[in-house]
Amino acid sequence: MRMILLGPPGAGKGSQAKNLSAALSVPHISTGDIFRANIKGGTELGKQVKSIIDAGGLVPDDLTVRIVKDRLSEPDCTNGFILDGFPRTIPQAQQLDALLRMEGNAVEVVIDLVCPDEIIVGRMSGRRMCSCGRTYHLVSNPPRMEGICDADGGSLYIREDDKEPTVRERLATYHRQTEPLIAHYKLQGVVRDIDGTMSIADTTAVILDAVRK
Ligand code: AP5
Repeated sequence: MRMILLGPPGAGKGSQAKNLSAALSVPHISTGDIFRANIKGGTELGKQVKSIIDAGGLVPDDLTVRIVKDRLSEPDCTNGFILDGFPRTIPQAQQLDALLRMEGNAVEVVIDLVCPDEIIVGRMSGRRMCSCGRTYHLVSNPPRMEGICDADGGSLYIREDDKEPTVRERLATYHRQTEPLIAHYKLQGVVRDIDGTMSIADTTAVILDAVRK
């Protein structure tokens, strides 16, 4: 299954990708997670992208596409993947289409997680992260012990770009640069609109039902 998860910041792409990756046995590839790991590791890439991400902007297309191409060439992607946060611009989508076409493949399904901006602002203010990649929410998806990751016992932290002014900037960036991808993929007939305001578990069940039909 070659799947893209589209939707505004905080629509639940990462939460869904983790569940879907386990259910469909394909890797979850998040460009945001790749960038954050590089920032944490103090790599050259991390230094290049930190100020862009902290301001709620987009990392340049050429850099982002190169990273995704490298990741998709790894053996675990042979039978498919779930892309979370990529593509995010029309040029990124066009380059992904061209890459898959060269292999005789194509994007099979694009899940458009629909979620209003005001719900998103509330979700971001309650989000807590672990460096292992798990995401929690103080109200809707709390860890068993406050401030501690259920999976590895790590200390939870607040993402630098989850402050409200940055969230509003990320939403504006989404509407301007990423929303046009819905029309791009509708032309390919692969978009499934999914209500992103249901519970995490119910949303996963609806997506699995849609992709298995
Ligand atoms: P990225 O990490 O991709 O961030 P994003 O798209 O803004 O999405 P988020 O991770 O914020 O949210 P999500 O939809 O995954 O929601 P989540 O499941 O965590 O990108 C970060 C930055 O990197 C970008 O701003 C950009 O600068 C750069 N970047 C990344 N990719 C790029 C690209 N391709 N090109 C250029 N630049 C790029 O859920 C959010 C919260 O809500 C959590 O607390 C969760 O527990 C809770 N929640 C989730 N679902 C539900 C639900 N159904 N009900 C109640 N609560 C829920």
